[in-house]
Amino acid sequence: MVQDIDISDLKRITELIYSKYGYDFRNYAMSSFKRRILRIIELKNLSIESLLKKLNDSPAFINEFLDELTVNVTEMFRDPSFWRVMRDEIIPGILLNHKTFNIWHAGCSSGEEVISMAILLKEMGIHNDVSLFATDLDVNILEKAKTATYPSKNMELNEKNYIRFEGKWSLRDYYKEENGKVTFDKNLYNNVTFRKHDLVVGEIFNKFDLILCRNVMIYFNQALQNEVLKKFHESLFKYGYLCIGSKESLIWCDVANRFLVANNEEKVYKKIKD
Ligand SMILES: C[S@@+](CC[C@H](N)C(=O)[O-])C[C@H]1O[C@@H](n2cnc3c(N)ncnc32)[C@H](O)[C@@H]1O
Repeated sequence: MVQDIDISDLKRITELIYSKYGYDFRNYAMSSFKRRILRIIELKNLSIESLLKKLNDSPAFINEFLDELTVNVTEMFRDPSFWRVMRDEIIPGILLNHKTFNIWHAGCSSGEEVISMAILLKEMGIHNDVSLFATDLDVNILEKAKTATYPSKNMELNEKNYIRFEGKWSLRDYYKEENGKVTFDKNLYNNVTFRKHDLVVGEIFNKFDLILCRNVMIYFNQALQNEVLKKFHESLFKYGYLCIGSKESLIWCDVANRFLVANNEEKVYKKIKD
């Protein structure tokens, strides 16, 4: 049965998740949040009332629910021109002042973005000098990311992106294939720390020279984007860089005048004021 849900149902769901589990979806963009809830109740054959009951009575259900609720779509070298700008402009700029530095992948999903960065750093010969922090609020997707294992069928797109990125070798040099799956060389993860972190309620946990938060804030309303952008500003060293998704912008937010546009096309911003 196709059901519809109204704003008061969505409010009951977000309030319950917040009060019981501390995840705060109250300021997520309502249209996509509603679509995801409708998808979950259809997929699991639930009504709104039975979903509320399950969320209330079964704490074990929350991770599965979050995994379905969040959009985890990602690719390696997503938007290849962005990765060329990282390699040719942004990272060389950081290296002028720091031989070693920290990168934060906020909303890293299943890890494709992290593997892309690790490969890029390896090809620049600086893989051992950079620490990567990869975070997401979805613990199930983080577990997948840690395995660095992906279905072979995903690799056609990833290989195409790598070629457009103009990588040094072949993406195949970085993984082994077996039984319809590929597993990337674990050495790529030598300097990577994966951890659960919620951008909405989570504390600032480190200082970075480069933050990537691409295609994550599109699911937040503007007020929440504004708050999260303030956290990113605080988490960056002066002259550090913030990268957001190709369809996102920060020119409207409270901290906009503390950033300079480093690359407009690729949505890279440089912190110029504390
Ligand atoms: C569409 S994926 C983007 C992955 C990658 N950054 C990219 O551009 O390909 C969005 C990710 O953001 C995560 N996410 C959503 N809300 C979050 C929050 N409040 N805190 C941390 N991560 C969040 C989701 O779990 C999901 O893995």
